[in-house]
Amino acid sequence: MLSRDDVFNELGIGPVWRLRETPASPISALDSRPSAPTFTWDTLAEAVARCTACKLSATRTQGVLGVGDRNADWLIIGEAPGADEDRLGEPFVGQAGKLLDAMLASIGLTRGDNVYITNVLKSRPPGNRNPAPDEVAACRPYLLAQIELIQPKLILALGRFAAQSLLDTDEAIGRLRGRVHQFQGVPLVVTYHPAYLLRTLPDKARAWEDLCLARRTYASLTSES
Ligand code: URA
Repeated sequence: MLSRDDVFNELGIGPVWRLRETPASPISALDSRPSAPTFTWDTLAEAVARCTACKLSATRTQGVLGVGDRNADWLIIGEAPGADEDRLGEPFVGQAGKLLDAMLASIGLTRGDNVYITNVLKSRPPGNRNPAPDEVAACRPYLLAQIELIQPKLILALGRFAAQSLLDTDEAIGRLRGRVHQFQGVPLVVTYHPAYLLRTLPDKARAWEDLCLARRTYASLTSES
């Protein structure tokens, strides 16, 4: 079996990239970012497809890189592919995906149009269990490469897991939402995961507030430029 380093070597992903592949925190990842992307979309897609950096590669059907506009201003980040996503190779295609599309539509956005959707993990954890820290660390270079390539204006983190792992905190989602954070210099807004909202209708009103905060933040950024 090829290791990730073997795959990176074959794809010409150089040592600068490897230096930043196990950052201690998102902030140190930023500090060690090279000025130009080391991955192209093609090498990134191939690296994810062939990745064996964590044990999830043994049970997944396929790596799920992401979907949408590669020049999007809006980057939506969920947790990990579920069963439908693992089968179809696209994030958020199940019931939670339908709700996500409706949430986006409520603020005038459409999947694929100025929006890119991905997950912290590119491989499905079996039985939809929570991602393990070593799996998050193994996948982090791919998410950082996506951010580097897309250069989004705003990140929307969906759910506790995405929010906590991006912001490197244990703080509860109820405390993380309602304000604008930064990830790699990109404003980041936290909201509830659509799968959670399907089970917890009362929090839909709070999610709507979060979406309005995201839209206001985006509007203020784009009116400045
Ligand atoms: N939940 C996620 O977090 N991501 C998906 O792609 C699907 C469900």
